[in-house]
Amino acid sequence: MLVLGIETSCDETAVSVVGNGEKIYSSVVSSSINFHKRYKGIVPEIASRLHIETISAVLSDALAQAGLGLKRIGLIAVTSKPGLPGSLLVGLCFARALSFAKGIPLLPVDHLKAHLYAAFFSRPRPRFPFIGLVVSGGHTSLFYVKKFSQIKLLGSTQDDACGEAFDKVSSMLGLGYPGGPAIEEMARNGEAKAFSFNCSNTQEPLNFSFSGIKTALLYKTREEKIGAKKNRGAKIRQKIKVSNLCASFQEAVINALVKKSLLACRLKKTPRLVIGGGVAANNRLRERFFSEARLNGIDIYFSRKEFCTDNAAMVAGMGYNLYKNSHKNKSL
Ligand code: KG4
Ligand code: ZN
Repeated sequence: MLVLGIETSCDETAVSVVGNGEKIYSSVVSSSINFHKRYKGIVPEIASRLHIETISAVLSDALAQAGLGLKRIGLIAVTSKPGLPGSLLVGLCFARALSFAKGIPLLPVDHLKAHLYAAFFSRPRPRFPFIGLVVSGGHTSLFYVKKFSQIKLLGSTQDDACGEAFDKVSSMLGLGYPGGPAIEEMARNGEAKAFSFNCSNTQEPLNFSFSGIKTALLYKTREEKIGAKKNRGAKIRQKIKVSNLCASFQEAVINALVKKSLLACRLKKTPRLVIGGGVAANNRLRERFFSEARLNGIDIYFSRKEFCTDNAAMVAGMGYNLYKNSHKNKSL
C-alpha cells in the first residue's frame, strides 16, 4: 500500500510517498528556516503562511519524484499533534481536502510517535517492546513502547526541550539559529572537560531539566567576556573558548540523555532503545549512545540523519503501521 505523508507541525512543509511502511519513494522537505533566522527562533505566523504558500508545490514534487499520481495512493497520513496550531491546521485542512476530493482514507498521526518510527526505515528494525527517546526542538521524552498503539510516557522535560537548549545556548554564543548543528560544529574543535557543566537533577529520575545548564552557560559567557572582539589575537582566543564552551555543554546534555535512557532500559528490563528527533542527528550523541549501550548490553536504533529532523516519510510510515494494525485481518 502506498501512503502519502504530510507534515507541517513546525517550519518544515514536507510530503512523502512510502510503500508498506518501508520503501521511501520520495521525501520532499521545504523549510522556512531562513525566514526565521533573524528572529533567532520560529515565528508561528511566518511558518503557517509559508506552509500555505508551498504545500501544493511540495505535494507535486513528492508525487513527481515518486513517479505516480494520487490515484495510486491508498492512505493519507497527516501530523495532527503536537505542534504549532496554525501550522498543524494548514496540513490538516490540506490533507482533509485531498482525502475528500479523491476519496482516500485519512489518518491523523502523532508527531512524536512518527519520530520513533523513523528508525524503522533502517535495518535491522527494532523489535517491540523498546524504550523510545524523542529529542527535538519542542520535546524531550522517554517512552515505553509495547507497540505503537500502546505507548506509556515514562518521563519528559520539566522546562526547556533539549533542542531548545541547544538553540538558546547557540544564540547566547552568537552562533545563530538553528543551534544544534552550529554547536556540534564548534564543539568538534573544543575540549569537553574545559568547563564543568551538569544538567540539574530532577525529583522524578526519568524527567529532564535543561534550563539550569542554559543559565549556567549564560553566566559563564559573561564571566569569560564572550562578545565582539576587535583584534585578531583576541578573536582567536575567544574562538577557542567558545569551542570549549560548546563541547562542555554538549557533553553534559548527552550525559543526562544517556544516563536517563539507560536507567529507563534497566527499570523496564528492556534492552532496546530507539532514539529519534532532530537532536538525534548529532554525531557525538550517536557515538556516545553506541559506546555506552554496548557496555550495557543494549541495542540502539537510530534513523538515518536526514530522517531525524522533521520529514513526512516518518509520518507516512507511522500512518501505515497504525492502519495495518487496525485492519489486521484484511490484505492491504
Ligand atoms: O525534530 P526537529 O526537526 O523539530 C521538532 O520537532 O522540534 O528538531 C529540531 C531541533 C532543533 O532544536 C535543532 O537545533 C536540533 O533539533 N538539532 C540538533 C542537531 N540538528 C538539529 N541538535 C543537536 N545536534 C544536531 N546536529
Ligand atoms: Zn519533530
